[in-house]
Amino acid sequence: MPVLVRPENMERITTPELAKAFIAEQIEDLRTQIGDRKVLLALSGGVDSSVVAALLIKAVGQQLTCVHVNHGLLRKGEPEQVIEVFRNQMNANLIYVDAVDRFLDKLAGVTDPETKRKIIGSEFIEVFAEEARKLDGVSLLAQGTIWPDILESEAGIKAHHNAGGLPEDLNFELVEPVRILFKDEVRVVGKELGLPDGMVYRQPFPGPGLGVRCVGAITRDRLEAVRESDAILREEFAKNGLEGKVWQYFTIVPDFKSTGVRDGARCWEWPVVIRAVNTRDAMTATVEDVPFALLQHITARITSEVKGVNRVLFDLSPKPVATIEWE
Ligand code: XMP
Repeated sequence: MPVLVRPENMERITTPELAKAFIAEQIEDLRTQIGDRKVLLALSGGVDSSVVAALLIKAVGQQLTCVHVNHGLLRKGEPEQVIEVFRNQMNANLIYVDAVDRFLDKLAGVTDPETKRKIIGSEFIEVFAEEARKLDGVSLLAQGTIWPDILESEAGIKAHHNAGGLPEDLNFELVEPVRILFKDEVRVVGKELGLPDGMVYRQPFPGPGLGVRCVGAITRDRLEAVRESDAILREEFAKNGLEGKVWQYFTIVPDFKSTGVRDGARCWEWPVVIRAVNTRDAMTATVEDVPFALLQHITARITSEVKGVNRVLFDLSPKPVATIEWE
């Protein structure tokens, strides 16, 4: 049976050797738990679900079905990377669901951040449940639950993302192979499983995705401005040695416009806000001292390459009093 509680004396997985041993043990345990049954996994492309997918592919191969839901709020290139790594390189049984229109239609005109989060969360469960019902004979649900999720849900801080939200007719037995690991250990295991660095060392990304960075009511054009400016920021941080050094960095596009001049004519466009912060636990955060010349270069790129943007601002606010995300 799988180990449900992290043993008190468990050595922290910090080396490839320890990761190898953990992987071998998990593969055995997964084969014992699963037998010849079929397993389903919601694969977001985040570190935890990606490591779970890679472990299950090693353990039970085609008995695993991964479902990747594209809700339209993912970063540039993410759905493509999930397909490339899992379907093309690891030969996983992957169902790709393009639910972009469905999510954006539901979100149209919704301005309240918590309502936006609720819509995104419940629509996700609905799409996933629909896919699950289409499959025959799947009785197991794999999840990327990690040890801090268990500790936080026990302490009443947050309800960890589990099958609790699924409709009652979908009565799955859970498979949670990274349940007893801390985040840094999941990354070491992911590296050993051969996942690309871009996936293993990914910065934190909120469940509601770019939706909470397209402040207020989400529109397709402003969401595109968030996605494109975020891609430029990530590219420039990577090129300039800030990737892996800064804890979290992204762009926000508020729902207002200001005057500018483009090609000799007046333009009325959005600002892009850059946020770059460092923290240990996301409860407090300080602002990264990004070199001014780099900010100027990023500004030049964003204002010339991103449609509908004529200004770039840098958010100087620590947490508290400002939260990391704007919504
Ligand atoms: P805040 O904005 O509260 O963010 O300072 C702290 C950390 O949590 C992330 N975050 C979320 N993650 N669902 C998530 O999975 C959410 O609704 C959500 N809101 C914020 C945020 O990106 C930061 O890392």
